[in-house]
Amino acid sequence: TRDFLIAPSILSADFARLGEEVDNVLAAGADIVHFDVMDNHYVPNLTIGPMVCEALRKHGVTAPIDAHLMVRPVDRLIDDFIEAGASYITFHPEASDHIDRSLQLIRDGGCKAGLVFNPATPLSYLDHVMDKVDMILLMSVNPGFGGQAFIPGTLDKLREARRRIDASGLDIRLEIDGGVKVDNIAEIARAGADTFVAGSAIFKAGSEVDPHRYDSVIREF
Ligand code: DX5
Ligand code: ZN
Repeated sequence: TRDFLIAPSILSADFARLGEEVDNVLAAGADIVHFDVMDNHYVPNLTIGPMVCEALRKHGVTAPIDAHLMVRPVDRLIDDFIEAGASYITFHPEASDHIDRSLQLIRDGGCKAGLVFNPATPLSYLDHVMDKVDMILLMSVNPGFGGQAFIPGTLDKLREARRRIDASGLDIRLEIDGGVKVDNIAEIARAGADTFVAGSAIFKAGSEVDPHRYDSVIREF
């Protein structure tokens, strides 16, 4: 049996009350904090950077922070996120000029390293770096926004990624990001995912001011 992790994406949280929102999802049973970094260049949206990651640490968040870098170039921000207290740092291979170097930078900084695959990005990027990744993140939407619909073809890709991980014998997490809901998470788990990002399904559930609105969603997950 696999251990499953729930990773709320704070992209859909109320940024004016971010510390509280993160405390509440963790209290409701979430395992790791998914932290979406967008640069208005690699993706057409602009979000948050290392200062906000650092602020969450100062606020007292001790859970792992999973920094998903949707940025180009990648390397300079890696150092900043290591400094800011990230636990996982993942990036999109086509956004890095030197994938092996970026992965190594992350591990040298004491963080877990991951590659992120857009719906149309081939898994063959893993071929020569499998031993340098701690996480494979498959996007089940095109990156840039929360609240999009899960692309069904991702299930086959998940199965392929699961085969690669099992064949490698390595300890690599398989994360899925985009359109994960209570009614499709079981099927996604059966296809091989073990780490589930969910933004709108968690933060947009129920009344915005009710801190317990997350409890039932996370329990159902
Ligand atoms: C999209 C982000 C996701 C996003 C998922 O580019 O990487 O993490 O927050 O949001 P939902 O769960 O609403 O699809
Ligand atoms: Zn993400």
